[in-house]
Amino acid sequence: MTTGLDDVVAAETTLSHVDGTNGRLILRGYDLEALAGHIGFEAVIALLWDGMVDHPIDEALVRRALGRARSDAFALLSRILAGDKAPDPVTGLRLGLAMLPDDGTAGDPFAATAAAPVIVAGVMRARMGLNPIAPDPTSGHAADFLRMLRGTPARETEIAALDAYLTTVSDHGLNASTFTARVIASTRAGMVSSVIGALCALKGPLHGGAPGPVLDMLDEIGTPDAIESWIDARLAAGERLMGFGHRIYRVRDPRADVLKGVVATLRGTENRIAFAQAVERVALDRLNRLRPHRRIDTNVEFYTALLLEALGLPRDAFTAVFAIGRIAGWSAHILEQERTGRLIRPQSRYIGPQARAA
Ligand code: CMC
Repeated sequence: MTTGLDDVVAAETTLSHVDGTNGRLILRGYDLEALAGHIGFEAVIALLWDGMVDHPIDEALVRRALGRARSDAFALLSRILAGDKAPDPVTGLRLGLAMLPDDGTAGDPFAATAAAPVIVAGVMRARMGLNPIAPDPTSGHAADFLRMLRGTPARETEIAALDAYLTTVSDHGLNASTFTARVIASTRAGMVSSVIGALCALKGPLHGGAPGPVLDMLDEIGTPDAIESWIDARLAAGERLMGFGHRIYRVRDPRADVLKGVVATLRGTENRIAFAQAVERVALDRLNRLRPHRRIDTNVEFYTALLLEALGLPRDAFTAVFAIGRIAGWSAHILEQERTGRLIRPQSRYIGPQARAA
């Protein structure tokens, strides 16, 4: 019996399809490659939420509504940062989301999606001993996040890179965090609880917690001549290499190539990319020699790590930045679940002792 629900279809969705055989990610009918870097994150949100909210929606409306809601979310920071020590970004995000008004319905998804970059930027600045910077409601989501984080506007190439990243991770079928969101939404617990639950599922290293450890791996390897021995030793010890393998993809994760292209647009990344590619080559060779019948390939987290590093983000913020993008997809699934779904309540098979005397 499988314990990971492999191949079980647990929901019907109009949002995204992960084609693991052909290495395609389709968002509402579009291949990811046609969206990332071609239309903005706000337009992708409009695409995902179209028909899920009870009013017409387009890019301009999303941009205005997110801008307003980012400004509203700024007040949360004084409460999140009230303690002696600033929390880590995921904890800060969890705390801040829990402070949002919660009427127990999926309702309007803008508040949670808009709060994410405000909270993550404010918490990251507090960890550096700096005061939070207020949102600019007229700005785009990616640009405002980088400005709230740094205090100065980012370069256009950096904004475009982060925007393409947010699109790339915005939705991805029934992954563990999205499934969590749908389970919670299916009980009618509402948007806030469903998003917080999803974030908790995202943070594990087998899901959204992998990119920080990818960089740790590259740092530990250090030089090209150490790649083979380092990887061989880790695999011999039964460890998993972060940034490789996927439950659904039997070929390369298409998000990895999209992000690899995006990293290359950023200044000064040539040497890091070359070293990472050398590590990737050896890792794939060893993993597939070890398991010739189960193809393992590069996943989204490998090049996510390089991209977020090139944007100057600290590795303890990577999972929270992933959430800034994925919250768009979680929200769409929560809305869809409320509209069309039933209570999700599977069965377990009891394998404990039978009929014991009390
Ligand atoms: N390094 C070493 N061994 C691996 C790896 C890896 N990265 N990935 C899979 N394997 C092994 C795995 O241990 C298993 O061996 P065994 O049968 O001896 O237990 C075998 O390959 C088959 O694994 P699988 O059934 O293909 O993997 P899964 O579906 O259970 O897990 C995974 C998928 C992503 C959790 C796993 O590949 C992994 O742990 N990767 C490293 C962590 C990582 O990169 N996570 C980010 C995932 S992508 C983001 C997202 O979409 O959520």
